[in-house]
Amino acid sequence: MARTAERPAVAGTSLVPLVHRIAWRRRETSDVVTIALEAVGESLAPFRAGQFHMLTAFGVGEVAISVSGTPGAPGPVEHTIRDVGAVSHALSHLPAGGVVGARGPFGTSWGVAGLEEEDVVVIAGGIGLAPLRGAVHQLSKRRGPGRLTVLVGARTPDQLVFADDVRRWRELGADVRLTVDAATPDWGGEVGLVTALLPGASFDPARTVGLLCGPEVMMRFAAADLADLGVDSSCIRVSLERNMQCGAGICGHCQLGPLLLCRDGPVVTYGGTVAALMGQVER
Ligand SMILES: Cc1cc2nc3c(=O)[nH]c(=O)nc-3n(C[C@H](O)[C@H](O)[C@H](O)COP(=O)(O)OP(=O)(O)OC[C@H]3O[C@@H](n4cnc5c(N)ncnc54)[C@H](O)[C@@H]3O)c2cc1C
Ligand code: FES
Repeated sequence: MARTAERPAVAGTSLVPLVHRIAWRRRETSDVVTIALEAVGESLAPFRAGQFHMLTAFGVGEVAISVSGTPGAPGPVEHTIRDVGAVSHALSHLPAGGVVGARGPFGTSWGVAGLEEEDVVVIAGGIGLAPLRGAVHQLSKRRGPGRLTVLVGARTPDQLVFADDVRRWRELGADVRLTVDAATPDWGGEVGLVTALLPGASFDPARTVGLLCGPEVMMRFAAADLADLGVDSSCIRVSLERNMQCGAGICGHCQLGPLLLCRDGPVVTYGGTVAALMGQVER
């Protein structure tokens, strides 16, 4: 079993943004947009699911945004952005044809290439499904015996993203379960925390890998619940977000204990140092 997240080399990754054009944009929710980028000149190196790019809104600033597309898929590279501040606002309001900068890819990946036999439990909170989307696409096409469970939580039904993908993953055999914190009159699904979906999911803890992305408090509780169900903490991977500046292991802004999260993360193995740094759940 591939028990640890992959760790790539960052040497040679450019610090200079490459110019990209927005080929198309799609609104996902009231404050979330997916933009698809195509290179104007030189292309970015291939990415793995879970890695991120540093995207520049020219004249505004640069932020870390995970790739939400599928590795190896033809066409422009997708990023899904929540409008929370100056840069994400500028990026998510550029029209198709608009120009941005992009450099990377940076960081570790979900490491799905090694997961043929394992059961995989994906747990996402809100826009946390974006960095996992490419991994779920890849996992849903596996031919091995491993089962795929995808648990997604959002604040309200209109905050759920990627409805078409959810349909497709279900058609491909994945067990996809959705829940919301607060229902609306037209919502017929589950209401409650995403971790409340775990008992209904079918997986063998002894051969399960957990992939978690969302608010850190959600990942802490989800990781603790998976561990309580018997999943080894070395088989639980979480994606951690910190302030990224260089993206290339140079500036130290993204430091978390002994880790530089742009280089050693964002996907890290839960347990040990990481669990302690995230603050373990007392039971
Ligand atoms: C590895 C990595 C991958 C990321 N991937 C994505 C992604 O795929 N899509 C995406 O939208 N963002 C992603 N982010 C988060 C993004 O980089 C930050 O939200 C960034 O700070 C936005 O910059 P800004 O200038 O728009 O807002 P800022 O001015 O930096 O922030 C504005 C306000 O929003 C708050 N804030 C910042 N980030 C968030 C957040 N994520 N949720 C809620 N409030 C927040 C800040 O505390 C601040 O109060 C990622 C971050 C990292 C480190
Ligand atoms: S962002 Fe500069 S070292 Fe990680």
